[in-house]
Amino acid sequence: MKRRELLLFGAVFLASAILAVLAALSLRQWEASAQRHVREQARDMATMTAEKIEMAVLKAEEEGLARLQLAVRDRALLRERVDAWKAETPFFDRAYIFARGGTLLYPAPPSEGPPPSFEEIRREIPPGFWDRGGRRHVPLGDGVACAAVLAEGLDEPLLAVLLRSEQGLRREILEKTLAGLEGQSVLAVVDRTNRAIYSPRPLDDTEYVLSVAFGEALPSWRLALYEPAGLSPRDTVHRQAWLFTAAFGLLVGVIALGLGAAYRLVRRESEMARLKSDFVANVSHDLKTPLALIRMFSETLEMNRAPDEATRREYYGVITRESERLSRLIDNVLDFSRIEGGRRRYELAPSPLEPVVHEVMEAFRYPLAQQGFKVSVDVEPDLPDVLMDADAIGQALANLVDNAIKYSDTRRRLSVTARRAGPDVLVEVADEGIGIPADEQAHVFEKFYRVGRSDTQGRRGSGVGLALVAHIVGAHRGRVSVKSQVGQGSRFTIALPAAETR
Ligand SMILES: Nc1ncnc2c1ncn2[C@@H]1O[C@H](COP(=O)(O)OP(=O)(O)OP(=O)(O)O)[C@@H](O)[C@H]1O
Ligand SMILES: [Mg+2]
Repeated sequence: MKRRELLLFGAVFLASAILAVLAALSLRQWEASAQRHVREQARDMATMTAEKIEMAVLKAEEEGLARLQLAVRDRALLRERVDAWKAETPFFDRAYIFARGGTLLYPAPPSEGPPPSFEEIRREIPPGFWDRGGRRHVPLGDGVACAAVLAEGLDEPLLAVLLRSEQGLRREILEKTLAGLEGQSVLAVVDRTNRAIYSPRPLDDTEYVLSVAFGEALPSWRLALYEPAGLSPRDTVHRQAWLFTAAFGLLVGVIALGLGAAYRLVRRESEMARLKSDFVANVSHDLKTPLALIRMFSETLEMNRAPDEATRREYYGVITRESERLSRLIDNVLDFSRIEGGRRRYELAPSPLEPVVHEVMEAFRYPLAQQGFKVSVDVEPDLPDVLMDADAIGQALANLVDNAIKYSDTRRRLSVTARRAGPDVLVEVADEGIGIPADEQAHVFEKFYRVGRSDTQGRRGSGVGLALVAHIVGAHRGRVSVKSQVGQGSRFTIALPAAETR
């Protein structure tokens, strides 16, 4: 193959390789940024929901406090009123009310558990609250309490410490905000150890994605986002990346295949071009030899240089044979070009094989005899007719005989047989010549193909003979095959379907 073509293929290959590397790199980048993007989206959603919950908690506290404010107006009825308030405010679990001095006004002892330390809470309260009123979330045990100064309309401000009920929070806020969420993601409230406090749906078969913190109203909890297993953004992006990789791999594969096919095509083409130029050289040579002989002998005869009648006869014979050989050669080449142009027609008629075989053998009688061939011709009696173009089959047979003569060495034996085999009639041409190497046997029927290249073992030829044979036999719905061993000889078999038996 030429340098230029090799360079071209190299360039295409290199370009594909670069493309593949770039695609792989950008795919990885894309995957990373897609992961980031999806995560950010998930985080945004979780943050928004967390804010909503926080707001709802604050609002619930505000409402509760507003009502408590009314309940504590009358110091004398404080206990009963706060009891009533508590009954209708399930959001809070426990409530403590201190006087500014630290006296516990509510609940009356004995109450559930010891009250929270007034001093501790007072430290968290900015002084301004004692006049204006206001609230703070203060850590209490492992939870958080809402500490509020109730000042409005009171002679003396009171400190209320309210502890939320987990039940109330769950029912009034979490259920309302979280259960309504649509989509496949699950948002759940978890504690510091990622243990679920509340989840609208069971978390089996889900994967933890991320979690965000609430505000100060819910400091010890977080809102966590879960995705159904296999559907997490990471998995989805990963799957997409895989799909893309597979598709791209396929594409690169197709390019490689195409490249390979193109490479083979170009190689075949250049091989064909070489064979064609060999063909032209071979045909010219093949035409020249008989022409030179004809010319030499006819000139000798013309100048009356032949000593006697017998010699003259011999020279005439040479001229006749050489012109026959010339016509065979020209017929071969012309027929070949007709076949190539799709113009070769066959006129099929049921005909006997025997006369065809004998005609061909007659045509080769002289060269066979002259080169000392031992010839055996064996045509089975009562062979059925064959639907054939007798001229074409004769031409095919002549090509096989011609090859047998041409490719024989010192053992000069030719055997031609015709016999019946099942539905077929077989015509075999066998020699004991140079033979054909096993790996080349499949190629000898290709056009221009010659074993060992252009000057096959010193014998000239155009390389179209067997291609012609194959085409002719194919047109008769027959098959041609070869069995051969190097140094032992070759046996070509033409199988033709027998016409309707008589
Ligand atoms: N009987 C045979 N013994 C050994 N080699 C053979 C025989 N017949 C054909 N071949 C090999 O097969 C090749 C193709 O044969 P084919 O008849 O097509 O071409 P050719 O004989 O070279 O040229 P031509 O077109 O003149 O017949 C030959 O070149 C030869 O190498
Ligand atoms: Mg030949």
